[in-house]
Amino acid sequence: MLPETQNISIPANGRETRLSKEAILNQHARVIWMCGLSGAGKSTLATRLDNELLSRGYLSQVIDGDVVRGGLNKGLGFSSEDRHENLRRVAEVAKLFVNCGVISIVSFISPTLHSRAMAKNIIGEQDFLEVYINASLDVCEARDIKGLYKQAREGKIPDFTGIHQPFEAPEHPDAEIATGSMTVEESIRQLLDFVLPRISFKDQHEQSQYKPS
Ligand code: ADX
Repeated sequence: MLPETQNISIPANGRETRLSKEAILNQHARVIWMCGLSGAGKSTLATRLDNELLSRGYLSQVIDGDVVRGGLNKGLGFSSEDRHENLRRVAEVAKLFVNCGVISIVSFISPTLHSRAMAKNIIGEQDFLEVYINASLDVCEARDIKGLYKQAREGKIPDFTGIHQPFEAPEHPDAEIATGSMTVEESIRQLLDFVLPRISFKDQHEQSQYKPS
């Protein structure tokens, strides 16, 4: 038996509710969408960024390709269609976090202009910050941290990005972190310089409309 409807408080305005939540968290929620080749450093920077934000009092959530593919998106492969569906679901999840006032740090290869445009469209232009984690194929393959490039070259992994399938670099990313020629510390500093002014109430003219009663 459902309770009386008049006893259920349903927010009339989703935008107001989000602003209220951002005010409680004292932050502007955004999606930091990191794209780049496997091995470029996306997961490392996503985890570091999450920790750096937490230590400054910001609440964020990492959504990482390897993790999501083992859970929510288990069963999706690496065909163009499956990657697109992978990223569509991720964009929807990131949007849920942002509407709850939480900064969403997304770390996926997201290889095509088309898929990233779809993600931007789902999330909304205002909230979508595209960050290109840029290390060349040569650098990523030389690192080969997970040994996947070697297996791909040997034909043991099909559809590998950069080898069998293209990576379309962003044409106008909001930020570009050249991880091929910088240390992790330099990269995270540059990333923070980009992110902090965009999530901080202090650094923006725009302030929440929310006034606690
Ligand atoms: S995306 O293209 O759909 O955005 P996603 O970021 O989720 O890819 O997953 C990439 C990760 O899956 C890589 O870091 C790697 O560990 C693993 N992987 C397994 N097979 C492939 C493949 N064929 N191409 C790229 N990455 C693969």
